[in-house]
Amino acid sequence: MTVCEYKPGLEGIPATQSAISHVDGQLGILEYRGIRVEDLAQYSTFLETAYLLIWGGLPNQNELDHFQYEIRNHRRLKYRIRDMMKCFPEGGHPMDALQACAAALGLFYSKRALDNPAYIQNAVVRLLAKIPTMVAAFQLMRKGNDPVQPRDDLDYAGNFLYMLNEREPDPLAARIFDICLTLHAEHTINASTFSAMVTASTLTDPYAVVASAVGTLAGPLHGGANEEVINMLEEIGTVENVRPYIDRCIQEKHRIMGFGHRVYKVKDPRATILQKLAEQLFEKFGGDEYYAIALELEHVVTERLGGKGVYPNVDFYSGLVYRKLGIPTDLFTPVFAIARVAGWLAHWKEQLGENRIFRPTQIYTGSHNQSYIPMADRLQIWDKQPLAGRV
Ligand code: SDX
Repeated sequence: MTVCEYKPGLEGIPATQSAISHVDGQLGILEYRGIRVEDLAQYSTFLETAYLLIWGGLPNQNELDHFQYEIRNHRRLKYRIRDMMKCFPEGGHPMDALQACAAALGLFYSKRALDNPAYIQNAVVRLLAKIPTMVAAFQLMRKGNDPVQPRDDLDYAGNFLYMLNEREPDPLAARIFDICLTLHAEHTINASTFSAMVTASTLTDPYAVVASAVGTLAGPLHGGANEEVINMLEEIGTVENVRPYIDRCIQEKHRIMGFGHRVYKVKDPRATILQKLAEQLFEKFGGDEYYAIALELEHVVTERLGGKGVYPNVDFYSGLVYRKLGIPTDLFTPVFAIARVAGWLAHWKEQLGENRIFRPTQIYTGSHNQSYIPMADRLQIWDKQPLAGRV
């Protein structure tokens, strides 16, 4: 057996072979199925991109029409899911609500048939269609309102903003939101996708796969950073406060939210596009007080940490776009999840194609041949050693 080196966080260790997306972290290039994300952002829509990721090629007009039709038909939630959501505490985080709702779909669509293409297709459609409705419904319900029903005449992005804000969105706002979804749709073997793949490899149902991925995305080191960025901008408060804030973070070894990436050692190409989208929105709908702080932050972090390859990542400018679209801060990560469902499902499908259960090894650091301590003697040990410190 070959002895391999332990790498914390599995840095640089290939966990799979995949044809879905590719990142060149030195050049700042991201491709979905070989197509640059900049081109998809400009010419494609989120659903077209989701189709590309999941089915492996761009759809022709008939295929796209059919896919969109299917999604429109599955946007509504069963009343029992809505009733379940009514019992969620208003103060709970929307990512927790989303995780519970995604898992609950497994109860309603419980006949798992992973070798049946129709089952795979239905699961893809259901998840893509219902996740935005769940996010918007939770937002209205926690305010004490009934959820707004989806509108069949609106496209994917426009319908979500409509369900969320209870009014038809401006066409530019809807288009920009759709581009945001495209930019967040997929990103190789990030933490939540890895989580989805591990879950998928047990041959459980796709709702459990997505629920586990949602739970993983929620953390502040991953998708949860977009919410933390806005909290950080609020805490900093003024452009003058940026430099002392960064100095303090560096001195106290605190991570600056929205910066740094395991793969990118230059500015994330998605951050560059998101920044331009934010500027487009500011031009049409007025500026954002936090933008000047964000620009100064990028300037100072680049100056101080650019040498280590720490630059803005996808989560840095997305929040400024979402704020302008009327999306509350704690929905930023659920919005990320709406988009990333496409990538998770693509990896789920790819995993099923050549499945082997994930079962890595470990390097054991505990002891051996310890004697069993009789109950009467254990209290003494507890007295000497606090519980948390015991091996
Ligand atoms: C996403 O993987 C993906 O693809 C994820 C994602 C996707 O689309 O799925 O791109 C989405 O999750 C974006 C990342 C969002 N998270 C944040 O913005 C949180 C802040 N960033 C970091 O904590 C960090 O950069 C990570 C978690 C993103 C990456 O962590 P790594 O690869 O384990 O890097 P590290 O923490 O070990 O840092 C390496 C060096 C350190 O310096 P040294 O100790 O080597 O001298 O870079 C420095 C760090 O100090 N560093 C930072 C920093 N990020 C890296 N220093 C200050 N602030 C930061 N944000």
